[in-house]
Amino acid sequence: MTRKGIILAGGSGTRLYPITLGVSKQLLPVYDKPMIYYPLTTLMLVGIREIAVITTPQDQEQFKRVLGDGSQWGVSLTYITQPSPDGLAQAYLLAESFLGDSPSAMVLGDNIFFGAGLQTVLKEADATATGGTVFGYRVADPERYGVVDFDAAGRVRAIIEKPEVPPSQYAVTGLYFLDATAPERAKTITPSARGELEITSLLESYLHDEALSVKQMGRGFAWLDTGTHASLLDAGNFVRTLEERQGLQSGSPDEVAFEKGWISAGDLAERAKKFGKNSYGAYLSRLIG
Ligand code: DAU
Repeated sequence: MTRKGIILAGGSGTRLYPITLGVSKQLLPVYDKPMIYYPLTTLMLVGIREIAVITTPQDQEQFKRVLGDGSQWGVSLTYITQPSPDGLAQAYLLAESFLGDSPSAMVLGDNIFFGAGLQTVLKEADATATGGTVFGYRVADPERYGVVDFDAAGRVRAIIEKPEVPPSQYAVTGLYFLDATAPERAKTITPSARGELEITSLLESYLHDEALSVKQMGRGFAWLDTGTHASLLDAGNFVRTLEERQGLQSGSPDEVAFEKGWISAGDLAERAKKFGKNSYGAYLSRLIG
C-alpha cells in the first residue's frame, strides 16, 4: 500500500508572538521560502504524492493560497482543520479517513531536515511496511523534546516527552513513519497532564508491541529548530549559507517535483515565470537548462 503524507501545521505559535499573532508559524520565511516548503519537500523526497495538510481553521485559507492543490508539483494536497491544538497524535484521528488503510509519514510543519543521503534514510524507513520508524538526533538541549531512553544494551526502553532530567542526548525528530494501525492506536491513548494527545503516547503503543524502530540520524545531518526567534533566524541563515555557497536550493518542492519527473520542463518554466526575476525564479529557470 502506498504511503500517504501528513504535514501537521496547526498550533498557536505562542512562542513566536507577536509575529504569529497575524500569520501561522509554518508560513513564516526561512530565508527565501515559506517554512512549510521544507517539510513538504521532505515528504516529496520519500516519494509521497498524496499529502494532508492539517492547519487551524482560521489559517487554512492562507495555506491554500501558498500551496494550492499541489498539482503544480504533481502532488495532491488535502486540507484538514484541527479545531484546537489538542496534541500531535490527534492528527491521526483527524486524518483517519484520508489515510484509509495506508501507512503514513507525518512531518511537523516546523521541522527542517538537511543532509547528504537524506533520501536514502527516508527510503529505508518507507520500505518498512509494518510498525513504525522514528529518528533520534543528538542535541545539546534534549529536555525541549521527546527523548529516547535506552537500556544498557542500547535498546529503546521508552520515549519521554520533555523530561526534566533527560535520560539521553537523543531527541526524537518530528518525522514519524507509522503503519496503518496509527489511527486505531491513537483512539486508545488518553490526554497527558498538559491536556494533549502526545505523540510519545502513540509511539509508546508501538514500543509496547516491539514494533518501533528508532534510527539514528547522524551528525552529518542538520535537523533545524524554528521554535524561538533566535533559532528561526539561525535556520534562515543556515539555508542562506548553504544556498549561496553551493548555488543549490534546499527545500524546493519545484526542484524535487522536476527531478522526480512529476512535472515537465514546461510546467517548471511556468513556475519560474511566476517568480519573475527573483533568485528563486532564476534558479528554477537554470534547472531547465
Ligand atoms: O520537533 C520535534 C518535537 O516535536 C518532538 O521531539 C516532541 O516529541 C513533540 O512533542 C514535538 O514537540 P514540540 O514542543 O515542538 O511540540 P509543539 O507543541 O511545539 O508542536 C510542534 C508543531 O506541531 C508546532 O509547529 C505546532 C504543531 N501542532 C502542535 C500541536 C500540539 C499542531 O499542529 N497541533 C497541535 O495540536
